[in-house]
Amino acid sequence: MKLFDVYSLFNINPVRAEGSWLWDEAGKKYLDLYGGHAVISIGHSHPHYVQALTEQLGRIAFYSNSVQNTLQEKFAEKLGQISNYPDYQLFLCNSGAEANENALKLASFVTGRKKIIAFKNAFHGRTSGAVAATDNSKIVAPFNASHEIVFVPLNDESAFLAALDSSIAAVIIEGIQGVGGIQLPSEPFLQLLEKKCKENGSLLILDEIQSGYGRTGKFFAHQFANIRPDLITTAKGMGNGFPIGGVLIHPTIKPWSGMLGTTFGGNYLACAAGLAVLEVIEREHLLSNATEVGNYLLASLRNFSTLSSKRGKGLMIGIDLPEDKKSVRTNLLFEHAIFTGEAKPSTIRLLPSLALTKSEASIFLSALQLELS
Ligand SMILES: Cc1ncc(COP(=O)(O)O)c(C=O)c1O
Repeated sequence: MKLFDVYSLFNINPVRAEGSWLWDEAGKKYLDLYGGHAVISIGHSHPHYVQALTEQLGRIAFYSNSVQNTLQEKFAEKLGQISNYPDYQLFLCNSGAEANENALKLASFVTGRKKIIAFKNAFHGRTSGAVAATDNSKIVAPFNASHEIVFVPLNDESAFLAALDSSIAAVIIEGIQGVGGIQLPSEPFLQLLEKKCKENGSLLILDEIQSGYGRTGKFFAHQFANIRPDLITTAKGMGNGFPIGGVLIHPTIKPWSGMLGTTFGGNYLACAAGLAVLEVIEREHLLSNATEVGNYLLASLRNFSTLSSKRGKGLMIGIDLPEDKKSVRTNLLFEHAIFTGEAKPSTIRLLPSLALTKSEASIFLSALQLELS
């Protein structure tokens, strides 16, 4: 059987990884500033993570959500404490799209409404409602297109106010737009969304799947704006590579038996991975490291006069390449052995492990300088 050919692949076959580094089958070493789509939060193969998963695998890997699972409770407790949402409830699932799908469904259950406001350039995943709320017609099939979604430009207060009416179940927004090219919602805009959603009886969903879990130096990017959304979705960095997603749910939203459900969500291995990630984030002060190394990168990038825009927070950074330097990302990979991400048409996205060191960051800065000179 052949693989369904939907990905454009680099001709690199990683076989081992440690910290911010990968090795291919020929032993070539790569610096990883992309974390496999912002997934590697604490660094590849962290010993505490490996030990936690290995020990859990030897005890019990899976049973269903029809029995007590104290590991889920322990994980929820720790996540509530570290994220500063101890009073919220947690629904566990397996991916980012699933987290958004469940958040949209919850908002519709709670309000009895079905229309959603989303933002231009947004990416929320590839399942039914999540992809409908994604501003990319190429990945929306006719089956998905029947959802009622209004797209509004990011940070456009009057367009948002014009779209908000009594038919809106929810407003969904990324903490920082990732796939859209590291575009930041302004703090006053987020505060307006919170206020107007409340007045209108609509729920505010913060998609923190890429921007959350310490990436910006705060646990969630929206915490810079001091807002408390009704629903917060998370995945990617949660399991450092083990598939896990979650929805943090405001305490006033009441569950009923069977309202949401999943076979694999919250399984023992996912919880062991999730718990180990949170323990490492806490013990190794990775939020402060993301702030410090992110500030170092952004401050250094400001000296690169050929770059028109470099933006972001913490270790979520976007760099717009000049027109004549579009091959820089490929050159970084094949000539300097550095993985970075991209956003169309010509933005480099940096989404490294939160444990990236300044000296690793400076390897990238030197290579970029060479490429831009
Ligand atoms: C902001 C955001 N939301 C949702 C998703 C979808 O996550 P997943 O690929 O785990 O379904 C992504 C993935 O890139 C994302 O960046």
